Amino acid sequence: MIIRPARNILGSVRLPGDKSISHRYAMLAAIAQGTTRLANFSTGADCASTLGCVQQLGGGVRKNNDGVVEIDGRERLQAPRESLDCGNSGSTMRMLAGILAGQDFACDLHGDESLTRRPMKRIIEPLRLMGAEVTAAAGDRPPLHIHGGKLRAIEYKMPVASAQVKSAVLFAGLFAEGETTVEEPHRTRDHTEQALRAFGVELSRSRNRVTLRGGQKLSAIEAAVPGDISSAAFFLCAAALFPGSNLVIDNLLLNPTRASLLDVLKILGARLSVINLEEHHGELVGTVKIEHGPLKGITIEGAQSVALIDELPVLAAIAPYTRDGIEIRDAKELRVKESDRIALVARNLRAMGAECEEHEDGLRVPGNQKLHGAEIDSGGDHRIAMAFAVAALRAEGESVIHGAESAKISFPEFFTMLESVAER
Ligand code: S3P
Repeated sequence: MIIRPARNILGSVRLPGDKSISHRYAMLAAIAQGTTRLANFSTGADCASTLGCVQQLGGGVRKNNDGVVEIDGRERLQAPRESLDCGNSGSTMRMLAGILAGQDFACDLHGDESLTRRPMKRIIEPLRLMGAEVTAAAGDRPPLHIHGGKLRAIEYKMPVASAQVKSAVLFAGLFAEGETTVEEPHRTRDHTEQALRAFGVELSRSRNRVTLRGGQKLSAIEAAVPGDISSAAFFLCAAALFPGSNLVIDNLLLNPTRASLLDVLKILGARLSVINLEEHHGELVGTVKIEHGPLKGITIEGAQSVALIDELPVLAAIAPYTRDGIEIRDAKELRVKESDRIALVARNLRAMGAECEEHEDGLRVPGNQKLHGAEIDSGGDHRIAMAFAVAALRAEGESVIHGAESAKISFPEFFTMLESVAER
């Protein structure tokens, strides 16, 4: 994909449904009583992987004429005939493992080359403590073999702040006898808690601890999935780069555990406003308007790095265009995402002529730098491809994004939508 420099970003966009919420609604729909109807379901390949697995497990999955995804739930899932294909999706494998731990059958889960490199010990440990038999090739990596069954409730202190791990344990907790509690070192996205409540499950939260009682029944829901804020991040950051930009995004997910990017852009100097706030199934949704303001700099660390984990690549990619630069710390998890995102961001910034410092847990990107167009290596990682398409908009000369098709993992419409708002 060739990206030419732009003059500014103008217009309005509406985004396909949030990936995190789509995964959770689809998985819970599979074990709920009745038929769940989901409008604006994520169009990404990751959520299609989840739907494929749900289907293999006996959940009826259809798309009706209005594009609404319908899922028939069942009280007990059915043993799949073949290994479950999770594609590129860590969320599918890790969260589904929690549900499978509570089923009365054995099954296997596998993924593509990138997923096969990702750590699974983080879910294997708690699920084993709950009584499931879970094994992985080479101890920690997919494919996974899960033999589910009767589970016992646990109180689990997570060593890494991961919403996927929290979700796996809570999902398994639905099938356990007694009260399961998960404690997180930093607050992670709370879509699982909101989704469980929407499907009729009672749970309680106090500080960083969530508790639910096993054996509760779920009931189907009708919902429209709010626009994906991690996809919106590319447009918001692109708009922030150009004086004269003016972009409106409506129907956008604004859950406070996901919307830290808006705070960061404000601190950097962009002008942002939020209107039409509503709440749907516990999720905040609204319209965001962004205009340029001179961008200063920021250090992102601690809990903020956890909250912004998927948006860090694009923030790092626009950092050279700020006045004081951006420093990212406490983000070691970036190294075990779909790619080593710290290494790839550093390599591609350097390819564009930028200076940057790479750390084990982050990056420091000085501000006030001029970038030139370059050959970008996305490493087959959707967020790297999209982050550097944004950086390329303000570079001198054209850039070529290699592996641009990886955008389809979360956001197949990305390049067409970017063209529709980029003025040249
Ligand atoms: C996600 C949680 C995060 C995030 C991923 C989606 C989720 O991963 O990076 O893209 O939907 O729960 P971790 O749980 O590994 O932090």
